[in-house]
Amino acid sequence: MRTEVLLGAAGAIAAVPTAALLLLLGTGAAAPGPALVALAATLAASLGLGAVFARDLFLLAETLRHAAQENATALSHAAAAPRLPPMERIGLGIERLARSLAARAAEVGRLLRANEAIVENLPDPLLVLGGDRKPLRANAAARTAYGADMPAVLRHPGMRAAIDRAFDTGARQFTELSVPVPVPREVHATVIVMDPPLPDGARAIVVLSDRTRERALERMRADFIANASHELRTPLASLIGFIETLQGPAADDLPAQRRFLAIMAEQASRMNRLIDDLLSLSRIEMNEHQPPSARVDLGALATKVVAGFEPAAASRRVVLDLQVATGLPMAVADADQVAQVLQNLVDNALKYGREGGRVQVGLALAPGGGRWPARPGVLLTVGDDGPGIPRQHVPRLTERFYRVDAGRSRRAGGTGLGLAIVKHIVNRHRGHLAIDSEEGHGAVFSVWLPAGHK
Ligand SMILES: Nc1ncnc2c1ncn2[C@@H]1O[C@H](COP(=O)(O)OP(=O)(O)OP(=O)(O)O)[C@@H](O)[C@H]1O
Ligand SMILES: [Mg+2]
Repeated sequence: MRTEVLLGAAGAIAAVPTAALLLLLGTGAAAPGPALVALAATLAASLGLGAVFARDLFLLAETLRHAAQENATALSHAAAAPRLPPMERIGLGIERLARSLAARAAEVGRLLRANEAIVENLPDPLLVLGGDRKPLRANAAARTAYGADMPAVLRHPGMRAAIDRAFDTGARQFTELSVPVPVPREVHATVIVMDPPLPDGARAIVVLSDRTRERALERMRADFIANASHELRTPLASLIGFIETLQGPAADDLPAQRRFLAIMAEQASRMNRLIDDLLSLSRIEMNEHQPPSARVDLGALATKVVAGFEPAAASRRVVLDLQVATGLPMAVADADQVAQVLQNLVDNALKYGREGGRVQVGLALAPGGGRWPARPGVLLTVGDDGPGIPRQHVPRLTERFYRVDAGRSRRAGGTGLGLAIVKHIVNRHRGHLAIDSEEGHGAVFSVWLPAGHK
């Protein structure tokens, strides 16, 4: 169709001088011989010029077509071709324009892809909602965290209310949710309305930040303060009670005074122990990010610690046995802290193990792999043949103040911080702690510590 128009234009250009000559011939103003020659020459020239013109126009049309299709290679071939200088300039102009448009389109494409990559890789789950308030897409974090439960999360009454408020007011909305699926989570949700909407119909984005860990930490901190105050208040209340008794009813009762003072000394030293444990816990926590670098001979260290427990073991008629594997490498450790780990574990084994039983302390080269790291390590184990620990308590034993039988632990002078201290020391050593116990068959506490060179 376009070609026909171009040929028509070429025909029209050729027709003008021809028509003029025919007019001159017809009116007799020109002699037929030369006029016919002139006519033939004019016709030939007009047709030649028309053909070049038509070809150039055709090429320009082609250039435009390629420009519209953003076909850069075809574009340069076509643009170089027009012969008439003005046509050539128009062609080059079209080409430049098309090239700059194509470059800009490529830039926009790159920006879009970069933006999509940012959204896709954001660590927080993000959902994009359409005008119907239904999800259009979700980033990788959202797909991983919620998967098929995404619609259920959006149906949560708190979430729905926040989305409705955001759509109604156009302002950013926040809400805190307890999401039960796929696993219970505490979520801080932010709804942001897009104004104007995005070209793909996106009207709002919902960011779901997981706050489960923070909430648990907040609860733990509050629990810790409550527990520490409670642990201190009990002996303090008893001390105050005895002081009042000594000042009043027992003011002149010497035997009673002696008895009460002994109890008071016991309570005061209990408070002292608790404060010591709390302080050492906070000291360990403070440099937990700094692993120790000293080389420690665990065999010699264990021999000394175990010897210190002989009297306690004898009083419970417990056989305390230490086995150190030969050729054991040095451990990369803090000697005082490892001694504290061993003390807390042996103390527990003697306290909670069987009276007249056996406590075994072992030091061996750790088998690389399986439940232990593949790199070289030393395995310290403390096992007893006591009543063991019911399965449901095992994961919580290292929590501060957690005791299986609080009354028994308190009577034995325990603060409930021993295993919490062990856990933090092991963490500082970049080690591992495992607790294995079967009810009625004792408990084994294993500590993996990194080995250094001999
Ligand atoms: N070998 C064991 N056998 C049975 N139960 C144990 C054993 N070791 C620890 N437990 C249980 O784990 C609880 C926590 O132990 P942890 O050492 O942290 O505190 P504690 O012994 O009560 O007090 P502390 O160690 O501060 O004197 C104990 O109260 C006890 O119930
Ligand atoms: Mg203990």
